[in-house]
Amino acid sequence: MKALLTAGGRGTRLRPITHTQNKHLIPIANKPILQYAIDAVKQAGITEIGIVVGVDNGHEVERAFGDGSQQGVAITYIWQEAPLGLAHVVKISQEFIGDDSFVFYLGDNIVVGGIERFVEQFNNGASDCLLTLARVRDPERFGVPEFNDEGAIVGVIEKPTSPKSPFAVSGIYFYNSSIFTAVNAIQPSSRGELEISDAHDYLLKNGYRVGHSEITGWWKDTGMPSDLLEANRLVLSKIEEKIDGRIDQFSDIAGAVVIEEGAEVISSRVRGPAIIGRGTKIIDSYVGPYSAIGNNCQLDGCEVEYSILMERVRLNNVGVRVEGSILANDVEIVRAAGKPRVQRFMLGEQSRIELV
Ligand code: TTP
Repeated sequence: MKALLTAGGRGTRLRPITHTQNKHLIPIANKPILQYAIDAVKQAGITEIGIVVGVDNGHEVERAFGDGSQQGVAITYIWQEAPLGLAHVVKISQEFIGDDSFVFYLGDNIVVGGIERFVEQFNNGASDCLLTLARVRDPERFGVPEFNDEGAIVGVIEKPTSPKSPFAVSGIYFYNSSIFTAVNAIQPSSRGELEISDAHDYLLKNGYRVGHSEITGWWKDTGMPSDLLEANRLVLSKIEEKIDGRIDQFSDIAGAVVIEEGAEVISSRVRGPAIIGRGTKIIDSYVGPYSAIGNNCQLDGCEVEYSILMERVRLNNVGVRVEGSILANDVEIVRAAGKPRVQRFMLGEQSRIELV
């Protein structure tokens, strides 16, 4: 079995972060989102991985993961000229997949509990396609399966206004090569994309066997800023304490906290679960639960909670607690010096700030 991961797309819902960064490299608990997908397939014993990337920023992904040899996997990059849909992603990957069966794993999905169980179920079963389903609070945001009286899937409705079940079709699918018949037969939708749900519909209507399995742990599709914070919270809630950095005698650490090598905590309070990256300095500050502070950041006289700070972020005497925030590389929020007392902004396109 091979794995096909996505790392293209537009990432419009995560702007402005995605103006300058590929969505799949955004860190969750200080690890790129895509790393979770690579780890999950590797853990299931799959080492031949194709990653579909867009021509606009795919090189960033290639730079981050290379040929995979350092992680014991073999990565092939498949270039998509434009985000023409998930079925298009499958279509352009036919040569890489060949006659193998494969897991199609959207690279912005995070699932805890791994995919081994599904790999086994697919390999032992008689399905041409296995959809994984997750119970969600807001099925209207997703593709929702419809079942017949025998509990078999008969259709998937995209973003229904009144969902018929509490399940979402997650971004982890298993296929044999019949999916290529489907993606080559369907036409682009009204939004101009080759939709994966149309490919599934094709399989259902043409007598192919479409099975399903429920994800019983949690699953998160990190399409929106609130999803990133929630995924960060969920991953951090499973971390184990590991202190490789320096904590001075005036600091106080409690709960599951990871302090990476070269990080320093000085006269500060850290309440886990939280992670503090390499080379970061926390001075006279409070870092609260569900915070992931990246490498080489500096916090001085600040309070941060339930937030993601990427690399080299600088916060200096901000004055109010920073909460529910996502700060990209090299962001600075500092107290203005001198008179008059003003708030001064230097914001890129589609930035958003909330003031007290
Ligand atoms: P989406 O989240 O549906 O789309 P997106 O990433 O472009 O984001 P937005 O809706 O905010 O603009 O994509 C799901 C996954 O599939 C994600 O990993 C990106 C990837 N993708 C591709 O690689 N190629 C594509 O043509 C499409 C549509 C998505």
